[in-house]
Amino acid sequence: MANINYDYIDRFLLGMIPEQSGILKEMEEYAKENNVPIITPDIARLLTVLIKSANVRTILEIGTAIGYSAVHVCLCAGEGCAITTIERNEESAGIASDFIKKAGMEDRIKIVTGDAEVILNDIPGSFDMIFVDAAKGQYMDFMKKSIDKLRIGGLFVCDNVLFRGMVADRSLLIRRKITIVKRLKKFLSFISSCESLATAIIPMGDGISISCKLKEVEFNE
Ligand SMILES: C[S@@+](CC[C@H](N)C(=O)[O-])C[C@H]1O[C@@H](n2cnc3c(N)ncnc32)[C@H](O)[C@@H]1O
Repeated sequence: MANINYDYIDRFLLGMIPEQSGILKEMEEYAKENNVPIITPDIARLLTVLIKSANVRTILEIGTAIGYSAVHVCLCAGEGCAITTIERNEESAGIASDFIKKAGMEDRIKIVTGDAEVILNDIPGSFDMIFVDAAKGQYMDFMKKSIDKLRIGGLFVCDNVLFRGMVADRSLLIRRKITIVKRLKKFLSFISSCESLATAIIPMGDGISISCKLKEVEFNE
């Protein structure tokens, strides 16, 4: 498991969540067979609660992979929603496109292929939620380049922010991950102290941060 919680707690909580069916089940099986990391069932549940309770209709996602989370959030947001999802790996984007077509969601989910750091500036629109699930060392840059696209009151949500516990405990740190961990810590410190955001960091899955945008965010660097 992710080194975040006690295994018995994770097992218990994950055991409470009913299995998926249909297209999501098929995608989960594909992800497992092909070692594609996708959001865990508890994170999927949390996204459902956030989307339903805040009436989220427009979502910008960074990190599509095979489109599992995109299809999941599209199901949660329902008819008339609009999801833009960015993926830099063309092969993954192609697989996501096939699954999204199979799910009949191609009118609601738009995949943009490219490095989010490069193309974020060109993404049009205003969003109710931005969900970041991509290169962890780039979270701060992703935020700088997308936060103006989040409406006031919208949610900036980032997965894997505790990175197998490494950001919280040096004894867990793997040497080759030092730079990513330093960057993640800087990001977490920023969102925790920024007065324009109300942030909670939750030790669920691999750690997830939820920031509500209270007013326009300024970066002093
Ligand atoms: C953990 S997977 C995303 C899983 C997906 N959100 C899900 O739950 O179904 C991370 C994905 O982000 C992509 N990625 C990483 N850095 C990126 C970047 N800078 N721009 C666009 N995509 C990126 C990777 O290629 C990978 O497919």
